Amino acid sequence: MSTARFPKSLEEAEAFDQADPLATAREAFALPDDITYLVGHSLGPAPRAALAQIETTAHSDWSSGLVGSWNTADWINLPQTTGAKIAPLLGVQPDEVIVCDSVSLNIFKLASALLETGKYRPRLCVEQGEFPTDQYMVSRLGELVHAEFVHASSESGLYALREGGILVKSLVDYRTGRIADVMGFEQTALESGGAIIWDLSHATGILDLKLPEWNVIYGVGCTYKYLNGGPGAPGFIYVSRDWQSGLTTPLPGWLGHARPFAFEPGYEPGAGLKRFVSGTPGILSMSALNAALDVFEGLALSDLQKKANCLGDMCLSAFANLGLQSTSPPIGTMRGGHVSVRHSQGYAVSQALAARGHKTDFRTPDTIRWGLSPLYLSYAEVWQALKDFEDILVTKEWQEEQFQTRNLVT
Ligand SMILES: Cc1ncc(COP(=O)(O)O)c(C=O)c1O
Repeated sequence: MSTARFPKSLEEAEAFDQADPLATAREAFALPDDITYLVGHSLGPAPRAALAQIETTAHSDWSSGLVGSWNTADWINLPQTTGAKIAPLLGVQPDEVIVCDSVSLNIFKLASALLETGKYRPRLCVEQGEFPTDQYMVSRLGELVHAEFVHASSESGLYALREGGILVKSLVDYRTGRIADVMGFEQTALESGGAIIWDLSHATGILDLKLPEWNVIYGVGCTYKYLNGGPGAPGFIYVSRDWQSGLTTPLPGWLGHARPFAFEPGYEPGAGLKRFVSGTPGILSMSALNAALDVFEGLALSDLQKKANCLGDMCLSAFANLGLQSTSPPIGTMRGGHVSVRHSQGYAVSQALAARGHKTDFRTPDTIRWGLSPLYLSYAEVWQALKDFEDILVTKEWQEEQFQTRNLVT
């Protein structure tokens, strides 16, 4: 029997809330009171500071400051200053992270850059269960540069890496929340002369990441999930300092140039990670992200990880009591910020939950994901969502006509 500590009644959930060091963090978000927001693994809610910053950037910096705001509001350095705010969430140094483009583009740029160093075998590996964009980008890059493309079966990336080359791998799996054996992968990369680009999208802002201790050199990630940067907020690239200068971007844009305002005909990469800035960033979005990151100030990542895991254990226990399967790591083990539960009519069930104010999401063919961001969820409200989930299943409320039509975004 598991001895994991998680609430097993509403009273216990309330007691956990009383003792929660993160209990007041919710005040930082403009979240409707009647919503249990269980989709922070997809799109984080709006931090009040981000909304205020959008106002300032639009009405003061853009309307009044106009083009001068590139200097006066320091827009020009936002990729670096915002990256520096993400760095502590990865356990790395401020100049080891830059914010630019999207995860998709950053995978392409970084994988291409690693191949071009000539240090690694021209071999690009990705698992078939990996997030689709990672697979598409790696596959196409392989075609373009005539590198071998290894489409490894799910969970066999480690095996593929034994032959060297570059593996793109999620640190936290987007369907199950499973955490990869980071040090084991890095050890294999070391032994085979290979490299790993970690997709940190589902790991950043929820796990107590210590990338240098785990020998992680390269990573990319998104900022609209647990970093709450807003819809379409830009991605980031992490490269350990010692490995930055030898990298060449395949998309050399003018703002990544060493001297963009010299307007030289030839390209010279900017120092460090600046070279990965392909072109003019979306300043409204990046400044919102920059402000959103202030939510993490003064919070311990270990508290975030612990609470998310405890909420996950509570959900997994409820799923098991209902006789439902989960593909997530079991109670008492570490995982990312979401847990999955399988139901043959998962989409309709998630819609019925939404109608009761509990927002989850659905991933085909049968998985409902429960995102358990510790920043704004209380134990008691997740407990209530689980009770409603049970009621929806027992009464078969999900069978109602209104829950059957599938939206474009699930
Ligand atoms: C693991 C992972 N990688 C990449 C992406 C998407 O990348 P992009 O920001 O380019 O849309 C997602 C989106 O949910 C994701 O979960």
